[in-house]
Formats: sequence, C-alpha cells, structure tokens
Amino acid sequence: TSLYESDIERVVVSEDEIRVKTAELGKQIAADYGEREPLLVGVLKGAVMFMADFARAVPLPTQLEFMAVSSYGASTSSSGVVRILKDLDSDIAGRHVLVVEDIIDSGLTLSWLCRNLAARNPASVEVVALLRKPDAIKVPVDVRYVGFDIPNEFVVGYGLDYNERYRDLPYVGLLKPSVYER
Ligand code: PRP
Ligand code: MN
Ligand code: MG
Repeated sequence: TSLYESDIERVVVSEDEIRVKTAELGKQIAADYGEREPLLVGVLKGAVMFMADFARAVPLPTQLEFMAVSSYGASTSSSGVVRILKDLDSDIAGRHVLVVEDIIDSGLTLSWLCRNLAARNPASVEVVALLRKPDAIKVPVDVRYVGFDIPNEFVVGYGLDYNERYRDLPYVGLLKPSVYER
C-alpha cells in the first residue's frame, strides 16, 4: 500500500482513529441492542473493511449478510441510479437489521436501500456508517450511528475506491485531484 503514497494528498482518518471509533460504536450498539441480536447487512464492496472490523468490535453475537449495490460506477459523483448486484441470502422478516456502510455521500444509496429493506418486514432497520459528508447530502437519511463527519472531498481507502483502486489502503485518505484529472 506504500505504492499509493504518491496518490494521497493527506490522511483524513487514520488507522488508529478508525480502530478507536469502531470500538466505541461496537460498545454503544451492544448497549442499545441488549438481547436483540443484530443482523449486520454489509453493503459491498465499500463496507467490507468496516464490516469485518465492526462485527468483531460488537460484544454481542451478530450474524453477517451482504448486499451489493452500486450507484457510482467509474465516476467520482453519485448518479442516483442504484442497482442490486447481489441480494441478501436470507429472509430478514422479524430481524433487527443493522446496515453497515462505509460512507454516506449524497445519501441516495442508503435511502433507497433502507426503503428496500423496510419493505421486507424486518423488526427494525438502523444504519451504522463509518463516514458521512454532511455537505454532500441530497436525500436525508435517518442514520443512528456515524463514525466521522468529513469534508466534501474525494476520499479513498479502508474499502472506499476510485475506479476499484485504493480499497486496500488501511486508512482513509484524500485522493490527489491529479489522479482523477488524468
Ligand atoms: C459508494 C459508497 C457508498 C455510496 C455512497 O459505493 O461505498 O455505498 O457510494 O454514496 P451515496 O451516499 O451518494 O449514495 P459505490 O456505489 O461506489 O459502490 P462500492 O461500494 O462497490 O464502491
Ligand atoms: Mn458502497
Ligand atoms: Mg465505489
């Protein structure tokens, strides 16, 4: 990942900050859910890193499901067109669904996804997102748990990609504009 260093302007959220915040969110969620066993729904592909770390940070038994939706394609801004690339494997009726996302940008993906999941009669649907860009929100989403509010800049790493690259960067960094202006 040091190969990416010349493409990253600066660190936005460090590995340490991610670790500390993830542990905090995990404890908070365990306290809030108590006996209600959450079904974590990770949103591929961006949420993979956060999902893996978050699931282990919740001191409760959880179950893991994944959905793949895509709204960006190869662009740096959201198109608003959400496609299901992979659906859930199981029925979520009566379950306490906790959607796990890497980032809320315009909010289009999550608002669509929450509506889609709510229609399947779960007992509850909440969202935990590692990152949120308050200045980019176009559609309000009711997000119970947020790790960090960040500036409206193009960030990559810890699951977040640009053209499928940088997901494996261990921290969240600001991509140099020269990379996407190439
Ligand atoms: C990114 C990101 C969120 C979504 C946020 O996913 O991982 O899921 O966009 O954008 P929004 O709030 O404007 O909808 P993307 O569609 O790029 O797919 P990916 O997770 O596979 O990279
Ligand atoms: Mn995503
Ligand atoms: Mg993406």
